[in-house]
Amino acid sequence: MDKIVINGGRRLHGRVEISGAKNAVLPMMAASLLAPGKYTIENCPDLRDVKTMSHLLRIIGAKVELSDHTLNIDTESSNFFEAPYELVKTMRASIYVLGPLLARHGQARVSLPGGCAWGPRPVDLHLKGLARMGASIELEGGYVIARARRLKGSRLNFDISSVGATANLLMAATLAEGTTVIENAAQEPEIEALSRFLINMGARIEGVGTRRLVVQGVDNLAPTTMENIPDRIEAGTFLIAGAITRGEVELEGAEPDHLSALLAKLEEAGAGVEIEGKKVGLKVEKRLQSVDITTAIYPGFPTDLQAQWMALMALADRSCLVTDTVFLDRFTHVAELKRLGADIRMDKNTALVTGREKLKGAPVMSTDLRASASLILAGLAAEGRTDVSRVYHIDRGYEKIEEKLKALGADIRREGETS
Ligand code: EPZ
Repeated sequence: MDKIVINGGRRLHGRVEISGAKNAVLPMMAASLLAPGKYTIENCPDLRDVKTMSHLLRIIGAKVELSDHTLNIDTESSNFFEAPYELVKTMRASIYVLGPLLARHGQARVSLPGGCAWGPRPVDLHLKGLARMGASIELEGGYVIARARRLKGSRLNFDISSVGATANLLMAATLAEGTTVIENAAQEPEIEALSRFLINMGARIEGVGTRRLVVQGVDNLAPTTMENIPDRIEAGTFLIAGAITRGEVELEGAEPDHLSALLAKLEEAGAGVEIEGKKVGLKVEKRLQSVDITTAIYPGFPTDLQAQWMALMALADRSCLVTDTVFLDRFTHVAELKRLGADIRMDKNTALVTGREKLKGAPVMSTDLRASASLILAGLAAEGRTDVSRVYHIDRGYEKIEEKLKALGADIRREGETS
């Protein structure tokens, strides 16, 4: 397993190109199972999770090829309808194939997910929704076995807004008989992008980008080509990298509208922010002020940037509260940040972060995708050397992160881990 070695204390400066959104391309890849034929997705990031989803689609019978950030998928002969545990356990998003396989083939056998380490990751909302649409759902040996001659349009109402359940049920509804209304749908930009992808395929969806999606089922869909949206979490991570090192960075190819919650908090903390079209500039010249955050569904502060914000606040001028209301136990990064000298005290799903003048480098261990990002950010600012192990977590969601950071002036390299 590789590790990333950082000698901290260097201010970042310069331009960084933001890659395509991981959490938009994964559901789009699953949507290609709804109709046989050739699909092209431009601006596709070259990530471990994209490789995993590609492997899963090949097991289902599709041809998948990514070259120079263009993803080509051919589902002409994707007649299999099983997603095996070996794959699904490494990536929760594999569950996205359940809705499309069921809608197209009338049956599906998908392993229950594993995915990120923090807490149990239920899929009850996905299954309840499909059952409401007339599917028979059985759980057997860690697999979901779903059957439905043809799904029926119905009124679905989520008691909690779920990105994954919205994606899965939206895809299933496009081929259902009749109308499906999804209330309290996720409004994340990745769901909006998926909706546009499905409409390009011939789906009939109203309320795109809102809490309420109305889908008129159709008999057939057709393949399509679309450009993926930029990755707002990668963009946010690089903005925080610029801020934590008191540098000056400019993002290219970002979507500023998807970053408003973070940009507001960065400005409140004292960072200078400039927006010009698809460019976002950030400049920090002095110690930032401590600013509370509470994560929420979009357009609130994203849970996927909570760990990164905590790293930033570990060096801020006072104390603040970091609360995660989306994943109440998403704090595996706290113990590792404390190894770097951060002063963090937990109370249920809230961290009290008291800023220190300095952090000191140390060996730390990644536990999940965004926790790894927060450890790299802290290492960039810490005095001395920080070794971040198990970086396969980070490779799931960041394309060549050490190369992009090195180009911004960081002293960072990847090493094969001896142990
Ligand atoms: C998506 O995960 C993202 N993953 C996550 O990003 C992100 O953290 C999360 O949405 C929240 O924004 C992808 O898009 C591939 P949820 P998902 O269903 O769909 C509960 C990253 O770092 N819930 O919106 O799994 C759940 O436990 C990843 O890129 C149920 O109770 O998240 C959580 O508390 C990490 N039952 C809340 O809903 C269900 O059936 C929101 O989860 C489903 C979810």
